[in-house]
Amino acid sequence: MTALTVERVGAVAVITFDLPGEPINKFSRAVKDEFVAVLDALERDTGVGAAVLLSGKPDTFIAGADIEEFLAWTTAFQAEAASKEGHQLLERLERARVPMVAAIHGACLGGGLETALACAYRIASDHEKTVLALPEIQLGLIPGAGGTQRLPHVVGLQAALDMILTGRNVRAKKALQMGLVHEMVHPSILRRVALERAAALAAGTLRRGARPRERSLVDLALEGNPLGRSVVLKKAGEMALAKSKGHYPAIPAALAAVEAAYGSRAGGFATEAKLFGELAASPVCRELIFLFFATTALKKDPGVAAVPAVVPPIESLGVLGAGFMGAGITTVAVQQGIPVRLKDASLERVGKGLAAVRSVLSERLKKRQVTRQQLDDQLLLAGGTVDYTGFGHVDLVIEAVFEDLAVKHQVVRELEAVLDEGAIVASNTSTIPIARIAEVSRRPERVLGMHFFSPVHKMPLLEVIVTPATRDDVTAAVVAFGKRIGKTVIVVRDAPGFYVNRILNPYLNEAGRLLDAGCAVDALDAAVVADGFPVGPITLLDEVGLDVAGKVAPIFHEAFGERMAPPASLRAVVEAGRLGRKGKSGFYLYDAEGVRGGVDPSVYTLFPTGAQRVAVEASEITERLTCAILGEAARCLEEGIIRSPRDGDVGAVFGFGYPPFRGGPFRTIDAMGAGALVSRLEKLNDRFPGRFVPAEMLVHMARRGERFYPQTGHPLG
Ligand code: NAI
Repeated sequence: MTALTVERVGAVAVITFDLPGEPINKFSRAVKDEFVAVLDALERDTGVGAAVLLSGKPDTFIAGADIEEFLAWTTAFQAEAASKEGHQLLERLERARVPMVAAIHGACLGGGLETALACAYRIASDHEKTVLALPEIQLGLIPGAGGTQRLPHVVGLQAALDMILTGRNVRAKKALQMGLVHEMVHPSILRRVALERAAALAAGTLRRGARPRERSLVDLALEGNPLGRSVVLKKAGEMALAKSKGHYPAIPAALAAVEAAYGSRAGGFATEAKLFGELAASPVCRELIFLFFATTALKKDPGVAAVPAVVPPIESLGVLGAGFMGAGITTVAVQQGIPVRLKDASLERVGKGLAAVRSVLSERLKKRQVTRQQLDDQLLLAGGTVDYTGFGHVDLVIEAVFEDLAVKHQVVRELEAVLDEGAIVASNTSTIPIARIAEVSRRPERVLGMHFFSPVHKMPLLEVIVTPATRDDVTAAVVAFGKRIGKTVIVVRDAPGFYVNRILNPYLNEAGRLLDAGCAVDALDAAVVADGFPVGPITLLDEVGLDVAGKVAPIFHEAFGERMAPPASLRAVVEAGRLGRKGKSGFYLYDAEGVRGGVDPSVYTLFPTGAQRVAVEASEITERLTCAILGEAARCLEEGIIRSPRDGDVGAVFGFGYPPFRGGPFRTIDAMGAGALVSRLEKLNDRFPGRFVPAEMLVHMARRGERFYPQTGHPLG
């Protein structure tokens, strides 16, 4: 393999990194060996006075380490050793006789940025694809090739902590402002300017080691002394803890590593390597890396077993219903350059929908994520209508009209009268079986579900629901379209609740039963949040809307019988007409602006068990709720609702915030063992007969000691 090629331009060596057979550049063992060989050669060649590091890929500089190689580590020691090797390599680069200029165009992430930080000079191209980040925290790690040591000294403590603790992307312009790069140039002159700077470094007219930007006095006052630094670190630690609830060991590790950057150099690097090693061997890191592989695999998954020869491209979209969901779907489509015809029953409603689209997209202008021109171009793509004008040319229609079968039937009939024969009709229904909607269709093979989550522009998951009649090329086309509009897509069989709502329902019901038994609303939510969920179940109900919950409950009851009967407390609050946040009246109090206060004490008067609450152990709450989700997830796999444990894990994490550090329900079951889950379910089922019967599949797996994923090696085989 030759990933690095070197050419000479005068006294400057230009190193081009272009990993063969891969769309992006990443560091693997083999690439590191090549790098060492290149550095050796440069060191020997006295005709070379400086070097430029460039990428041969169109929109990646270096995307970081090859994460597959992390799987080979079975101990903390091995990962620590790998980190130390990275330190040695980049130390050599930093101290080499030949200074290096990093010419950064495209993604410069993780080990890529750590390499750039060891270079004498950094130039970023002024291009939207150029982003710099240390995203290791998202994998439960800290930067392991000197990132925690070099970055604070380049951009200052606060900016470094922000990058390392969030992993967020920094665009070229921001990178220049914060002193992460020395210069920003148009991509067309990146190479030329890099060559010039390298020549200047070689000639000594450009000083090696110069900081891109001198630190402000405020920064220096705060960060230049141990006391100021400890204040900053303490504050950052508190904020991170409030967000992570202590479930992510990489956060305190990152703080400790950055703190060590202000001590001795050797000590700082040793601390980073040690902490990196410990984190790499932690279960949290394993689960986050699993999720990385799972989402990467989903991006490549066509959504059907046999890829059809022709997958019709979807270039234009019709959306029916300009309400909450219709406007959200329109927003994410135009954002990706897809023209949308948005239809509702009246001009007023269409206008409201388009205003909602504008409002979300304008946020991005405020945050400078788009230019005014880009925003205008996106808005021009959304056209409103009250009839079906323009629908004859769209490839796909997503209906998001009222949740009412008769209305859905009516629009399917109307649509098929105007659509092209090849067009696809998708329903965003949350509860109606797609096959029922397709009953009136003349082309049921072109009908499926696209279940978005609200708010559409924020929620990453899309469930594509297929009926036995749906054609594979239709499914594949819609899956590809879902990915294009930025969603993580799982293909789900048409059954009540599909997947995400199906596993949520027993969980929400169990929460309701805890309320029936006297548990306090806030104690219940607090226990679940402390366990790692983004919000508690009762907060979730208030957010989703109690009217929605009230409509869904009988559907589950009917489909699954007594085990999914709605609990009395939930039923009573729904029947009282409370809507949750949107009606400013739910389980919690809301002020006129919709800002939430504490629990509404009057809600208890609605409960059959009244205002008298009893203390319930947090462990009792989390045991019942967790087992409800895990048991139902296993049933979904057993019934073929989801295609794989992978889809079930990603669906739960991305669909409703199942704790990512546990990887997903199936990963959780593997971690505890199917046998342990079966016995926990059986114990609960003894106490609450019928609600916790373990799925056959689990019993079977428990008997044979089977798992959903391989225990070692690549989690997806
Ligand atoms: P919404 O009430 O905000 O919007 C529905 C819109 O459809 C209204 O503007 C209405 O005027 C329009 N409409 C009704 N009949 C129409 C027709 N024949 N032609 C054109 N427009 C028509 O409702 P929302 O919340 O946007 O929900 C829409 C669909 O999405 C429902 O099926 C719902 O179950 C589903 N859904 C809702 C979620 C949510 O969180 N709100 C989540 C996932 C799915």
